Amino acid sequence: MVVGERRQATVLFSDLSGYTAMNEHLDPEEVEAIMRRIKNHAVRIVESHEGIVNQFVGDEVMALFGICAAHEDDPLRAVRTALELHAVVRAMSPEVDARIGQPLRMRTGIHTGLIVTNSRDTRDGLYGITGETVITGVRLKTEAEPNEILVSPQTHRLIAPYFETEELPAVRVKGKAELLRPYRALRPLPVRSRFEASARRGFTRYTGRQDELAVLYGCLERTIRGEGQFITVMGEAGVGKSRLLHEFISSLGREHVSVLQGTCHAHGSTTSYLPFLDTLRRELNVVEGRSREEVLDTAVATLTALGPSLKAYLPFYLHLLSIRTDPMIAHMQGPELRHAMQEALTGLIMAKAERQPTLLFLEDWHWHDEASEAVIQHLLTLMGGHSLLVGITYRSECS
Ligand SMILES: Nc1ncnc2c1ncn2[C@@H]1O[C@H](COP(=O)(O)OP(=O)(O)OP(=O)(O)O)[C@@H](O)[C@H]1O
Ligand SMILES: [Mg+2]
Repeated sequence: MVVGERRQATVLFSDLSGYTAMNEHLDPEEVEAIMRRIKNHAVRIVESHEGIVNQFVGDEVMALFGICAAHEDDPLRAVRTALELHAVVRAMSPEVDARIGQPLRMRTGIHTGLIVTNSRDTRDGLYGITGETVITGVRLKTEAEPNEILVSPQTHRLIAPYFETEELPAVRVKGKAELLRPYRALRPLPVRSRFEASARRGFTRYTGRQDELAVLYGCLERTIRGEGQFITVMGEAGVGKSRLLHEFISSLGREHVSVLQGTCHAHGSTTSYLPFLDTLRRELNVVEGRSREEVLDTAVATLTALGPSLKAYLPFYLHLLSIRTDPMIAHMQGPELRHAMQEALTGLIMAKAERQPTLLFLEDWHWHDEASEAVIQHLLTLMGGHSLLVGITYRSECS
């Protein structure tokens, strides 16, 4: 980023409630040690969400998301960061709270808007950043109660389907005519994709796209005849790729075809096999809240019913789902393990296709990981002559 550049970013300001009390009641060395630990945690958590810590001033941390590399989910990353940082500090609190007479808690303000870099002086942080965005971020942080995360309406609009939030009364910002309405970010909601989020808000009536639907029905017919099909749905963000698949899938008689679905994520290109994990969980009937024994029993029964040969792959499925790692897998080397994982995943998909026509849709393939690409490549070599359709959605601007 160069001096004077303007771009959209999300800023996070957090400070420590309890800092003054620590300074009053503890040795400076102990305060220093605690602050160092909090700062180390802050750097680790911010960087794990691909943001940067721009600066620490006293007990305040300022982090930026979308500066070096913009992600469309930067505001989500900022809120996840804040939730983790708050949790870490809450967990540290019992070490000192009795002695300082109050709990240690972070409080955070997050805002998304245009930022401008100005001439860089490292004493002012990694990037010198000014503008309304910074003022609003700081104002939200000041307004936040201990352990509270306040986001601006602009950030709220981008995170709303993904987090439970509460609207709060408007506050005044110095030097600004209009009031600022903060939202309290509480906890993540179980939404996996933008499309699911828009589905939650309710669909608009579906119009047009008859040609595209006709192409999909044509491919389905050939799939049913045993001619494996591969489809790419390509187009700009928001053009209707996910909705097209949704309309197509909803129109199918699901008793006659199996539909497997998965999604790549903006943060997922470093997680191997990510788009296959949801499918795997669903196919093995892995339900959260069950004991490991129950999960294993159900998975074995499901695999046995699907195809007896699949039982041999069970250790690989369990490893992928982080349920259990067999010592045999722990000893496998990179290429060998990768080959085995490929066999296990394609084995499951082909077994489904043996039973009845099967459609595998993987969304947002522009964010795919390399291991998943290898699985698809392998699948393409196997699917000829089988009732399998593989479809991926892809943003044309990412090609
Ligand atoms: N033909 C259509 N008729 C009515 N609404 C549509 C149509 N196509 C898409 N939409 C609506 O437009 C919005 C964006 O569509 P969708 O999520 O399918 O885009 P996308 O191409 O998958 O974008 P992205 O690349 O971000 O995933 C959704 O709310 C969807 O319901
Ligand atoms: Mg989509």
